[in-house]
Amino acid sequence: MLAVPRPSVRMAPSILSANFAALGADIDRVRDETDLLHVDVMDGHFVPNLTIGPPVVRAIRRHTDAFLDCHLMMTNPGQYLRAFAEAGASHCTVHVEVGSTAELIAEMRSLGLGVGLAVNPETPFDSCEPWLDRIDMLLVMSVHPGFGGQRFIPDVVPKVARAAEIAHRDGLDLAIEVDGGIDAGTVPAMAGAGASIFVAGSAIFGAEDPVAAARAIREAAAAAAVALP
Ligand code: DX5
Ligand code: ZN
Repeated sequence: MLAVPRPSVRMAPSILSANFAALGADIDRVRDETDLLHVDVMDGHFVPNLTIGPPVVRAIRRHTDAFLDCHLMMTNPGQYLRAFAEAGASHCTVHVEVGSTAELIAEMRSLGLGVGLAVNPETPFDSCEPWLDRIDMLLVMSVHPGFGGQRFIPDVVPKVARAAEIAHRDGLDLAIEVDGGIDAGTVPAMAGAGASIFVAGSAIFGAEDPVAAARAIREAAAAAAVALP
């Protein structure tokens, strides 16, 4: 196996577990531990839950200059990419399961968005492999998308390792983000496998001290990342 260089750790607090009635305050609270702000968009179709859309992204953008990492859990994201870009999204991630991946990547590029591709736990890695040299970020889901606070699925760790290996082998500028059930206990496996961006919702906003919780996850990830060859 190739020795994969350890990328730096980046934290992405997920506002899904924040207080939507005091969103600005919650965003500010974790600002020093936010490398990306993770915004979960759910359409009630691709996943059985509804959250927010471009108007809220616009409001967040007026409030903060954070990098807005929009995770589009939508059957038809292409219909809304322009609206998210105009609202101030920095990056959008679409799911490989919805298809039209080439068109969606082209549309995100033409809108000046960072480009991400997400893969669900039950979806084989092969489905995203052909796109790795065309995207900025692979989002490996470690829960079934739709809700915060679910239990981490360790079976997805090999997907992270495989993506990291390919990125290293082919010299790709590819970040690997992981999302779902991430906390200080589960993050080492993902960081050790080569993930560098860690989404955490309930482990941060559900903690009494969200900043300390985010720091603990960051430190656990950094320790695991350097522990490997
Ligand atoms: C789940 C979302 C996640 C969610 C993670 O479908 O994509 O971003 O906020 O929440 P936790 O960290 O609580 O598992
Ligand atoms: Zn997410």
